Amino acid sequence: MTAAKVSWNPEQYLKFGDHRLRPAMDLLGRIDLESPGLVYDLGCGTGNTTKLLADRWPDSRIVGIDSSAEMLEKARKSYANLEFIEADLESWNPQQEADLFYSNAALHWLGNHESLFPRLLKLLPKGAWFAAQMPRNFESPSHTSITESVESGPWAERLRPVFRSSPVSEPGFYHDLLGPHVEYLDLWETVYQHILEGDNPVVEWTRGTALRPLLKLLNKEEEKEFIEDYSRRILEHFPPGKDGKTLFPFRRLFLVAKR
Ligand SMILES: C[S@@+](CC[C@H](N)C(=O)[O-])C[C@H]1O[C@@H](n2cnc3c(N)ncnc32)[C@H](O)[C@@H]1O
Repeated sequence: MTAAKVSWNPEQYLKFGDHRLRPAMDLLGRIDLESPGLVYDLGCGTGNTTKLLADRWPDSRIVGIDSSAEMLEKARKSYANLEFIEADLESWNPQQEADLFYSNAALHWLGNHESLFPRLLKLLPKGAWFAAQMPRNFESPSHTSITESVESGPWAERLRPVFRSSPVSEPGFYHDLLGPHVEYLDLWETVYQHILEGDNPVVEWTRGTALRPLLKLLNKEEEKEFIEDYSRRILEHFPPGKDGKTLFPFRRLFLVAKR
């Protein structure tokens, strides 16, 4: 299952909006484009990244694409002057040739990267840019604890097929996949050290993302039990520091290519 079939909760996602925007800015900083004519923000969500792009290139046409009606409703409310289109990236085709496909924290929700990435790349003309950031934090206890909670309850059979434990491959996979088809390729990883406030905040973080497809399949009572189990595991791995705040290391993969 991909997020295209999962409902999103914009308010939950935006609880850590400032932390989530930092990699988006780091990705943007590596794109060497002066004044692109048309830019698509793939998986634009609540539009915060679309706004970043519009601020960098105020004279360009910037279009956010997302499959979630909930996220787009929030995006249109927040940024009434920006353009958003509801579409599923699995089958989406741009209306006209673009200068940049930009995607922050979205493409890991789609499967089959061995066909998805070359397909997206082929939709761009020669000389255009493709820039994507995806989490690669799947070996962190924030993620492995999800697998443990899935396996520890009566919901295991139901949740197991839905939970994708590592949707993003090694950097070498993307190098082999894209390298032969591009003029320029830059790949890097950054481990962010997010300092989070609140009570057991890593639980709140994953509730806005990785847990969403799972919680949707549980009834209220099960959801409560699942969250209790997961929260207990998370607190063991991510206890608060001396100042009461919680350090959450988070690895992300960046990819910038020019066709
Ligand atoms: C974690 S949010 C990221 C939003 C935004 N890029 C940001 O950085 O704040 C991921 C977004 O990808 C969208 N998404 C996931 N699968 C999609 C698909 N198949 N087609 C279009 N959008 C998709 C989701 O609806 C969600 O809004």
